[in-house]
Amino acid sequence: MDKAKLILDGQEYELPVTRGPEGEVGIDIGKLRKESRAITLDYGYANTGSCESSITFIDGENGILRYRGYPIEQVAEHADFVEVCYLLVNGELPNADELAAFKHELTYHSMIHEDMKKFFEGYLPTAHPMAILSSMIASLSTYYPHANERVALNIIRLLAKAPTLAAFSFKKAIGQPFIYPRNDLSYTGNFLNMMFAVPAEPYQLSPTLERALNLLLILHADHEQNCSTSTVRMVGSSDANLFASISAGVCALWGPLHGGANQRVMDMLKMIHDDGGDVDKYVEKAKNREFRLMGFGHRVYKNFDPRATILKKAADEVLEELGINDPLLEIAKRLEEVALRDEFFVSRNLYPNVDFYSGLIYSAMGIPTKMFTVMFALGRMPGWLAHWKENRGNPKTRINRPRQIYTGEGARDFKEIADR
Ligand code: CMC
Repeated sequence: MDKAKLILDGQEYELPVTRGPEGEVGIDIGKLRKESRAITLDYGYANTGSCESSITFIDGENGILRYRGYPIEQVAEHADFVEVCYLLVNGELPNADELAAFKHELTYHSMIHEDMKKFFEGYLPTAHPMAILSSMIASLSTYYPHANERVALNIIRLLAKAPTLAAFSFKKAIGQPFIYPRNDLSYTGNFLNMMFAVPAEPYQLSPTLERALNLLLILHADHEQNCSTSTVRMVGSSDANLFASISAGVCALWGPLHGGANQRVMDMLKMIHDDGGDVDKYVEKAKNREFRLMGFGHRVYKNFDPRATILKKAADEVLEELGINDPLLEIAKRLEEVALRDEFFVSRNLYPNVDFYSGLIYSAMGIPTKMFTVMFALGRMPGWLAHWKENRGNPKTRINRPRQIYTGEGARDFKEIADR
């Protein structure tokens, strides 16, 4: 068997090596502490593999992303988001009958319990929709308390109800009546209808918007062990229920270094625009570490993010089809151009990531900035669910419980102080 050797304090330890089919190498330190009392220290887990997974493959050096083996470029061009959900969760693409049954299930479960509507009354109209989404998803466990016994059904419930919860939070924020889900519409069409229809007049669904949303959801559907997915797996490892685990994932995604970046990109582009559009000035500020260029950089991609490449092209197409001339798109392109020529960004392998262009498309679709990260969450839902399921089904899974190097005080006597 393949082994790596570690010498610590003159003692040699042999560590088994696991190799993935794509040439990835993992040194298994599972017995290291027991044998040596040493642990590894890896801030941000940048070099730590927490699991083996057969869902998504990323080669960050070469800009490769595949869902269950299928290249993202092909999936983005040919698939429907619902098919991608099925693929990620079940491992294979559905045949026609399986797809029809899956679609039926997703529409059948799209309503939320009528009582849940009352929860929305308690939120301020200014409440961030990510806070609402995570709370509502956690609340689903009160309606479906045996979540982990009927996993397949509850996976469907989450995929079906998340768009309803997201659209209701938007309607709440703008003070309009909730629009109930409709079973005659596609997954994306139904979501757009719940977002933008009003009872007073019919809403004309735009095929451009449906297509754009389909693409955006697909591109966000999974990204292996990112912060929110690792959170879902970690929470799930304690045997917490599915809804609680996914709710935790939503919270992790909210952070501006992760999914929350899409909202921040838009704020940044507006700021640059309102300040005269001088992108060089802001590139300099980023280099001086006055702020981070949002939508730039990635832990794994060190060449380009294939999702950003697809989205840049899509942004051009969607805005043109909709007849929108957004000056922020020009600013984004100039910013990318200037940064990609700059030694600071080049030497650190900082490229636009998935969040850089997505907001411009959401914005063109009429989705407000505050909802951007919710849109990311809707896209990432099948990925979270697939990982939760995979983790639970793996007999090697143990409760996730990292170690630490303690740096605090040594033992001291409390009684001595109390006596003073
Ligand atoms: N602007 C300016 N400098 C940056 C940026 C940026 N966006 N990102 C990284 N750097 C610099 C950083 O200062 C550091 O420089 P130095 O080595 O001189 O100290 C170097 O690049 C490495 O950065 P890091 O923070 O160690 O890298 P990381 O792998 O820990 O962080 C990241 C990755 C995505 C959090 C980070 O690049 C970042 O904060 N980007 C902006 C936020 C963003 O767009 N997030 C979305 C990520 S993609 C989708 C998702 O995950 O949701």
